[in-house]
Amino acid sequence: MRKMTEALLRWYDRNAREMPWRGIQDPYGIWVSEIMLQQTRVETVRDYYVRFMARFPTLKDLAEAPEGDVLKMWEGLGYYSRARNLREGARQVMQEFGGEIPRDPEQLRKIRGIGPYTSCSIASIAFGVPVPAVDGNVIRVICRLHDLHGNPAEPRTRAEIERLAGELVPEERPGDHNQAMMDLGATVCVPGTPDCDACPLREMCGARRAGTAEELPKLPKAKPPREIEYDVPVITAGGRVLMRQRGETLLQGMWCFPLLEGHREPAELRGFLRRKMGLSVEDITPAGSARHVFSHQIWRMNLYRVDAEPKEAVPEGYEWIPLARVRDLPLPAAMKAARETLSPDEF
Ligand code: ADE
Repeated sequence: MRKMTEALLRWYDRNAREMPWRGIQDPYGIWVSEIMLQQTRVETVRDYYVRFMARFPTLKDLAEAPEGDVLKMWEGLGYYSRARNLREGARQVMQEFGGEIPRDPEQLRKIRGIGPYTSCSIASIAFGVPVPAVDGNVIRVICRLHDLHGNPAEPRTRAEIERLAGELVPEERPGDHNQAMMDLGATVCVPGTPDCDACPLREMCGARRAGTAEELPKLPKAKPPREIEYDVPVITAGGRVLMRQRGETLLQGMWCFPLLEGHREPAELRGFLRRKMGLSVEDITPAGSARHVFSHQIWRMNLYRVDAEPKEAVPEGYEWIPLARVRDLPLPAAMKAARETLSPDEF
């Protein structure tokens, strides 16, 4: 084990990827980075992290910020509940922990949005606590190192992976060790075809010896995402546009144009808008289509540009937003194509 750990740290010292949150001591910054990195690639996170930290430099700044401002800084990054939970977590640390982020993983897990993985990554990276941080990359590395053929989604195999990952963590530099495992998984021990020749652990790897690296880990097949078709009328009236702030779990707190499940021709859409939303509209112009892939849903969107009378009523749940304000609201990436049907000087 010692030999493995040493070889890995030596590799990390030469090959660590440069990231804006590496080499910092601030637990708050490390917390922000770890939340952004969930289900999101390092390359995507980089700029968001820098902008977010410039806007909310301290835990207190984040705790005191309105939710909409935090969501706005997260716009396009996806999985927006992370942003809402991070802000809630910051408020909780201010109120329940006297503004100090705890170092103990168990205490960290009491904070909104911090689960088993994140508690251990923060504890090890920010505070040097020797605990393993097991994310998807680390699961792959461990399964291959030990030639484990179990399904990591099953509790028994998962516990075995945690135990084996824990055995590798050194007392010195546990945060670097955990990040070395993540980097190795992201750049060398990649899914599909790993670059075993470049691996510092190649001499000690069970899967390499057995010739099984490419087939590990044995993950269950993911369910294909459900496709849903929507008509998305972007309805403007007198310099304002009709929008709704979502209350649903998916994209909660984000602003969207109307999403009307199903598909209608323009004439039918006109009738629908009158009957269901109380709007009388004139011109309806098809404006192309867009697709957005979530982890479990695919939205197929038919876009329309719609002109309504300036003094239209407000359909329930919606607001008429002045066009100049649209740029201040957090819009999900799924709405980007719809927003672009407005001319650039309108928003
Ligand atoms: N993924 C999650 N956290 C990470 C980190 N600190 N370094 C590299 N990849 C990561």
